[in-house]
Amino acid sequence: MNTPLIELIQRPRRNRVSRAVRDLVRETTLTPADFILPLFVIEGRQEKVPIASMPGCFRLSPDLIVAEARTAWDLGIPAVALFPALPESLKDHRATESLNPDGLLQRTVRELKQQVPELAVITDVAMDPYSSDGHDGLVENGQIVNDPTLEILAGMAVSQAQAGADLVAPSDMMDGRVGYIRRALDQNGFTQVGILAYSAKYASAFYGPFRDALDSAPKFGDKKTYQMDPANSREAIREVLLDAAEGADMVMVKPALAYLDVIARVRSVVNLPVAAYNVSGEYAMVKAAAAMGWLDEQAIMMEVLLAIKRAGADIILSYFAVDAARALNG
Ligand code: PBG
Repeated sequence: MNTPLIELIQRPRRNRVSRAVRDLVRETTLTPADFILPLFVIEGRQEKVPIASMPGCFRLSPDLIVAEARTAWDLGIPAVALFPALPESLKDHRATESLNPDGLLQRTVRELKQQVPELAVITDVAMDPYSSDGHDGLVENGQIVNDPTLEILAGMAVSQAQAGADLVAPSDMMDGRVGYIRRALDQNGFTQVGILAYSAKYASAFYGPFRDALDSAPKFGDKKTYQMDPANSREAIREVLLDAAEGADMVMVKPALAYLDVIARVRSVVNLPVAAYNVSGEYAMVKAAAAMGWLDEQAIMMEVLLAIKRAGADIILSYFAVDAARALNG
């Protein structure tokens, strides 16, 4: 007779005894269909320019974007998010180039929709890649002015929809932009083009490597008059509810890893799909620690992505999307 040393009715370890049992009781699982792959586009052909602070990520010319997008699609990743990197010569105060029907972004979208038609193409709506001021909104007398920016953003969204974008993603944090963009899309016949709203986007130092990738750092000041204060989470709920009321189809929390509490709160107050952006700085930290031999990159990558999903994200934008999908597909 083997009598237990103590009488314990509850033994949580029983649910961890074997891989099979652990597989049965797992609460959260990642799949490649959870991911959106962000991609940086540059002009040219066969151009692949490394981004120093994001090892493994590149600025790619449209032909290579198509190749990368096809790889992603074949791995089960349903969507890409495009960010154009433009030379200073194409930037101005009003982000005029963003409306060019033959601009780099528009051409890339058209090419993608031709070559990988089923893949969802998401485009970023904000002025910064096109702005000589490096801000997401229009600058007048040193201020980022809200209402005049809306017209520019709406024009940008319509131009992206005309090129074939499936969803537009306003990342600018101007007040009222979701409703304004929704109206403009509808008036131009794009009732089927969705809006993935960067609803709770924080003024975060985690965006540093992204701004290197696009050379899009603000030329003066910071983004604190439009992006949220990292100290606030009730305010995130306010932003999310406004975007939902204005017609957002999906809402986003950004960054992800230092804001898991915000993701969880947002998940509990809306019935819309919730996305989270595992941003450039989060990616860079993992890559740097792994390069030093201090962390196991594969294991950390999967743990981070799983944690973002467990917190409540239905959709994860991540520079790890392709690597993670490969790992998940075994
Ligand atoms: C700008 C934009 C940023 C990111 C996505 N869209 C940077 C910023 O707001 O300055 C950051 C993404 C990342 O860091 O990976 N509209």
